[in-house]
Amino acid sequence: MRRRLEQPKPKTVSHSVRSRMAIAKHPLHPMLVVYPVALLSLVLPADLLSLWLEQPFWAQSAYWMNAVGLAVGLLAGVVGTADMFLIRVVRRHVSAWNHFIVAVMVLAVAGMGVWLRAPDPVAAVWPWGVLQSGLLLVLVMVAGWLGGTLSFRHGIGVYGDADNPHEHEADTRPPAE
Ligand code: HEM
Repeated sequence: MRRRLEQPKPKTVSHSVRSRMAIAKHPLHPMLVVYPVALLSLVLPADLLSLWLEQPFWAQSAYWMNAVGLAVGLLAGVVGTADMFLIRVVRRHVSAWNHFIVAVMVLAVAGMGVWLRAPDPVAAVWPWGVLQSGLLLVLVMVAGWLGGTLSFRHGIGVYGDADNPHEHEADTRPPAE
């Protein structure tokens, strides 16, 4: 009974891992990824509107969303890669490697889309454009889900617990989920 009373109080904050690529404790990667997530996932709807309405505006919108989504996605990728390689504990998470691999696939398929659409955005829509933007949407959803696992489940890029034992670079425990 006495021993139970002496036990420390449970923590009110979960373990978290500070981002290295941040301004005033605001991580840069989550700020940047909103653009590729939104723009690249809107390429398929724009392609479908282009086929339905037969207006060049939608094919051109699909091209520009693909191109700008790729540009900001590359920047986000550089920042995310820096966080991943500067923080050892991030690399211990299998979901960090899965996120990295799927994110590189997102950028590769977005690059393919720019190559496909740049010469003639309207002619590129059917069938290859729709195939590319459909694949892109699936990959963006998987990359976003895995990124969310890192942030919201493993607390990466979160400034919560100053006593977090996982923050130590010397942590040699086996890979986590
Ligand atoms: C290419 C290399 C990439 C690496 C190494 C990488 C790494 C990371 C890391 C370490 C985090 C945890 C938060 C942080 O440290 O800032 C994260 C979160 C996240 N990443 Fe990436 N990332 C990459 C590219 C991308 C791309 C291209 C996208 C979008 C298509 C993306 C979407 C996300 C999302 C949605 C989160 C959760 C952040 C939130 O919603 O607050 N990542 N990523």
